[in-house]
Amino acid sequence: MEKSIQNAVLEQSKKYNSFYIYDEKTILDYTKRLKDCFKEVKFLYSVKNNPYINVVKTVFAQGFGADAASLNEVLLSEKLGLKENEIYYSAPGKTENDIKESLGKAVITADSLNEIEIINKSAEEKGIVAQIGVRINPDFGFFGGKGAPSKFGIDEKQLFDNAERIKSLQNIKITGIHVHLHSQELNTELIKKYHDNMFDLVERVCKNLDISLDFVNLGSGIGIPYAKNDKEVDVKLLGENLNELCHKFKEKYKNTHIFVETGRYAVGKSGYYACKVVDKKTSYGKTFIILSSTLNGFVRPAVAHIIEKYAVDEFPAESEPFYTCKNAFDYIVLNNSDKTEKVTLCGSLCTSTDIIEEDIELKEMNIGDMLVMTNAGSYASVITPYQFASLPKAAQLMLKTDGSVINAEEL
Ligand SMILES: Cc1ncc(COP(=O)(O)O)c(C=O)c1O
Repeated sequence: MEKSIQNAVLEQSKKYNSFYIYDEKTILDYTKRLKDCFKEVKFLYSVKNNPYINVVKTVFAQGFGADAASLNEVLLSEKLGLKENEIYYSAPGKTENDIKESLGKAVITADSLNEIEIINKSAEEKGIVAQIGVRINPDFGFFGGKGAPSKFGIDEKQLFDNAERIKSLQNIKITGIHVHLHSQELNTELIKKYHDNMFDLVERVCKNLDISLDFVNLGSGIGIPYAKNDKEVDVKLLGENLNELCHKFKEKYKNTHIFVETGRYAVGKSGYYACKVVDKKTSYGKTFIILSSTLNGFVRPAVAHIIEKYAVDEFPAESEPFYTCKNAFDYIVLNNSDKTEKVTLCGSLCTSTDIIEEDIELKEMNIGDMLVMTNAGSYASVITPYQFASLPKAAQLMLKTDGSVINAEEL
């Protein structure tokens, strides 16, 4: 952890007990890396993984559009200056109101055959023809083999079987497709293969629906390293492969734009969660460090503790984004002690699930010291149950490249 972050945490700890701090420099590094490696695509920032306004603003300022997962994310993206053709709204279970409110503000991606009908009806009421995307559950799996049942999207075959009905709808025009099959993948070859499969899917869609496409949204999936042994995705290699695929594709489909969703890649490594030692005690020979907020401050380490202690040994891919892998977070004690001690880290909630580590050897801590957790940029604050015990919500801060610290939630 860089000195600049440590200093900022110590300074802010005078004001807050529990807070997130997002490092603007890291966000700029990761977004630049994406842009440098993938020359032929436009990136859509997956707002859901970190929707704090100054984080989102920083990413959008790099020329990224929005991968919005709710009406509120559409409205936030609009508020931050994105145009309709820069906001892509994809999520299962949109209500009629979600659809009505986002028509004209975002490109809606239908997640089911029912949704296509609702969008058509809403567009008819507004007297427009809505250009929409469809999320497809393709006839291939991320890890190979055939397609599998999913709550996301419309099965490829089902979509093609309904081509005539879709064609008869007067107030929608399908102009794009979206697929997202898997998250947090670190195997570059698997992502490459997925991209290859996607371009084959485009051929099938254009042929079976007899349409041309304005956009193909390849979704997300590019992971970030959490544990020390995790290897970074080779984004350079991935970019070269995708650039080549895009070049070939553009020979035939000149006007089709290719999108990639950032997922957690843009901001995942930028975030730190800091909390304060509020009590220290021993019980039957064990030392307990009580922190200002753990499960109700940064839920993922507490979930990891439960899973690793009681549930499974294997990496369960379906548990993303609540659980990723063992040793996903570093714990850094900010004090000058040169001694270490074995401690159990827990929070103040009245549940014994509010423990994040047992018998871990860390620098000796005392009341008032700060403990920092890494990898807290994505799916961190947003998935944390803040209302538990009505304790104060962690503050959201951002360390700017000029050294100043701002509130990440206020423009
Ligand atoms: C459609 C879509 N895009 C992007 C993401 C987010 O990215 P990540 O792959 O980092 O979870 C998800 C997450 O589930 C998703 O469903």
